[in-house]
Amino acid sequence: ASGFPLDGQFAIVKRCKEKSTGVEYAAKFIKKRQSRASRRGVRREEIEREVDILQELQHPNIITLHDVYENRTDVVLILELVSGGELFDFLAQKESLSEEEATEFIKQILNGVQYLHSKKIAHFDLKPENIMLLDNNVHLPRIKLIDFGLAHRIKDGVEFKNIFGTPEFVAPEIVNYEPLGLEADMWSIGVITYILLSGASPFLGDSKQETLANISAVNFEFDEEFFGSTSELAKCFIRQLLVKDTRKRLKIQDALNHPWIKTHERLEDNSATVEAQMKVESQQLKTKRLKEYTIQSHSSMPPNNTYVNFERFASVLEDISLVEMGLENVAQKRESLQDDVEALLSIYCEKEAWYKEESESIRQELSQVRYEFRKAEVLRKGLQEDLRTTDASLASIDSRYLTREAHLSSLRQELYAELR
Ligand SMILES: *[C@@H]1O[C@H](CO)[C@@H](O)[C@H](O)[C@H]1NC(C)=O
Ligand SMILES: *[C@@H]1O[C@H](CO)[C@@H](O)[C@H](O)[C@H]1NC(C)=O
Ligand SMILES: *[C@@H]1O[C@H](CO)[C@@H](O)[C@H](O)[C@H]1NC(C)=O
Repeated sequence: ASGFPLDGQFAIVKRCKEKSTGVEYAAKFIKKRQSRASRRGVRREEIEREVDILQELQHPNIITLHDVYENRTDVVLILELVSGGELFDFLAQKESLSEEEATEFIKQILNGVQYLHSKKIAHFDLKPENIMLLDNNVHLPRIKLIDFGLAHRIKDGVEFKNIFGTPEFVAPEIVNYEPLGLEADMWSIGVITYILLSGASPFLGDSKQETLANISAVNFEFDEEFFGSTSELAKCFIRQLLVKDTRKRLKIQDALNHPWIKTHERLEDNSATVEAQMKVESQQLKTKRLKEYTIQSHSSMPPNNTYVNFERFASVLEDISLVEMGLENVAQKRESLQDDVEALLSIYCEKEAWYKEESESIRQELSQVRYEFRKAEVLRKGLQEDLRTTDASLASIDSRYLTREAHLSSLRQELYAELR
């Protein structure tokens, strides 16, 4: 299965299957930070926080955690498989989009966030990438909020500050390093809704600094070019979310009760209000710009994602500090190494001389052996020669013996005759 990088480069997600049931899941492999000093990998507390939060969540619009595995180097979260792709990609593929359809999805996002906020959990990373569809082959796909890597439990009386997330979507209180709460998510929903309806990003500037400055100044407008056909109610909804003062920003329950969300809900329940419905139908949004937005954001995601850049920067810093440590070690060890090398060299010279001597004597012994061998060979040949001559003489002795025997027998006969 192919994985794709998430959370900087410290986590990848792969599709997997439980052998006993055949059920498919998404496995998120998180690299653990191996030491306190290291900047590579994810800290244990952070992984535990994500797991703790995920274990508590059970809602149709939120990804569920099935299981967790761990070894020395990795933690593997076995998560519900969310295979319908990103909401924005799904919407961008449609020819047009009515506000009614848009609110169907936004309502699902709000339902998920309401559940989170009822548990005093802030997601802190709501953005198009993290709004997925469970399955895009159905009439009304189900939204799933994913990636709880930055999620945080907000505790009364405990101040929480951090600078994180993706600049385009973060609230002014994050930019300004002020105490954070559930309100930060509501701001992100405002930005997401703005983009969903127009394909334009409310604060995105030419640089990260410009984007952050635009956010801090709440510098946005509903350009006629992008919002010409958008209803006043929709703009009102966004305007009430993109409020700098967190106390005046719409809370999740207010957002769910907002007329823009409520109106469409009523229309759904009672389609008899033809007049209102026709008004909605006439407000078809063009998705061409949303398409352009999704294409651009996919291609620009890595270079313009602070989190990714931060992690990349951190890993470069770590490499540098590793190299520095290595250089120090090298400097320290250089002298003793020099000594070692000299000692080794002298040992080598000694050994070499010894081997030379040794090999000289071996050569001598060898030539001696060869000489002995040759002598033995000559001796053997001599012996063979002797053996052959002995054989020959034996044969001649044999024949002589035979003649003598014949001679003897004839003599015996002569003697016998004479005696007779
Ligand atoms: C831990 O598990 C991961 C994923 O299966 C694997 O890539 C890694 O090599 C494992 N580490 C050890 C130390 O076994
Ligand atoms: C952000 O601010 C810059 C500088 O003030 C401005 O030129 C740009 O149009 C702003 N962008 C948005 C999307 O408001
Ligand atoms: C990313 O942002 C920079 C400014 O920070 C901008 O110049 C660049 O065009 C953006 N990258 C892409 C691929 O859009």
